Amino acid sequence: MKLFKVLFVITATVLSSNCSSDSESDISTPPTTPPTTTITYTNTIQSIMSANCTSCHGTPTTNGASVSLNTYTNVKNAVINNQLIERISKAQGESGLMPFNGTRLPQTTIDKIISWKNDGYKE
Ligand code: HEC
Repeated sequence: MKLFKVLFVITATVLSSNCSSDSESDISTPPTTPPTTTITYTNTIQSIMSANCTSCHGTPTTNGASVSLNTYTNVKNAVINNQLIERISKAQGESGLMPFNGTRLPQTTIDKIISWKNDGYKE
């Protein structure tokens, strides 16, 4: 019983010394800015298009929509050639706003598409 007690004390001492944090470097400081994820077609743009646009801008297009917006290439081309960003940036009620006859996208969503363009259309 005595031996058991001694073993217990030794074990507890070893364990607690392993867990101690007596140097500055053991304390991890959180990064000041969270890591930013680059916006890509696959991680962001594709889901925005399928939630808001491809019901008309699919392949084939429906409801009189002119261009398809369901692949990396055709979304990129629509930004370059068909004023996609200008069309989603119009004010609510202004003619030509996309989604057609719908509600303007939240500005944070529009900003993601603008960042995607500015970062060079990452796939
Ligand atoms: C309800 C159907 C519908 C939805 C949803 C819709 N559009 Fe459209 N879109 C149209 C129609 C119809 C046209 C053609 C008439 C026009 O240009 O206003 C068009 C035209 C466009 C054009 C101009 C293409 C050209 O010929 O130059 C762009 C860019 C566009 N849409 C982007 C979008 C985007 C981005 C979304 C999603 C945020 C979206 N649309 C959602 C129906 C839709």
